[in-house]
Amino acid sequence: MSPLPPPVAPAGAPVLPPPPPETPAAHTAEGPGQAELLAFVRRAAADTALVATLPLDPEGRTWLRLDGPGGSEAWLIGWPPGTGTGWHDHGGSYGAFATAAGSLREDSLAHRLPTDGRTGTTLELPEGVDRTMELNPPQGRAFGPHHVHQVLNTADHTHAVSVHAYYPPLPLMRRYSRSGQALRLEQIERPEDWQ
Ligand SMILES: [Fe+2]
Repeated sequence: MSPLPPPVAPAGAPVLPPPPPETPAAHTAEGPGQAELLAFVRRAAADTALVATLPLDPEGRTWLRLDGPGGSEAWLIGWPPGTGTGWHDHGGSYGAFATAAGSLREDSLAHRLPTDGRTGTTLELPEGVDRTMELNPPQGRAFGPHHVHQVLNTADHTHAVSVHAYYPPLPLMRRYSRSGQALRLEQIERPEDWQ
């Protein structure tokens, strides 16, 4: 997919400055910032009574909706050994997550993807954009609105539990498949698909 060419202004038209780049701050005028989301997920991940309310299933991931701060969307998630999310983004929402039990690996891309792709679009990633982070309790991380990642429990026997928060509440998630440096947009999920 190639970006659209810039619009050409008609002769004599005033030249407008380009719009400011989108930043997380653009979303935080009314909602919680990334630091507040990170503080929330760390606090919730350390709340052993809360974490104990999550039913764990050895056959698959489990979820419990939480009340996130400032209207954010939050989840407590259980990960049996060997489970993961697959590559995805968060539809323009920013967020944070923290490990409450076990250990999680996050693979992410230090590369901004176009956000207007259609399903079936394949993007060739540059070399050197892969990042990997191991998150053990009480470690967490915040991420921006263009973050693309996958989260996995790579343990052989140990269940993992984590807390996630997003703002604005997820409008959609784009799911990708990956083969080498080729990232293919497979599916766009809406909230009704996971609630
Ligand atoms: Fe995610």
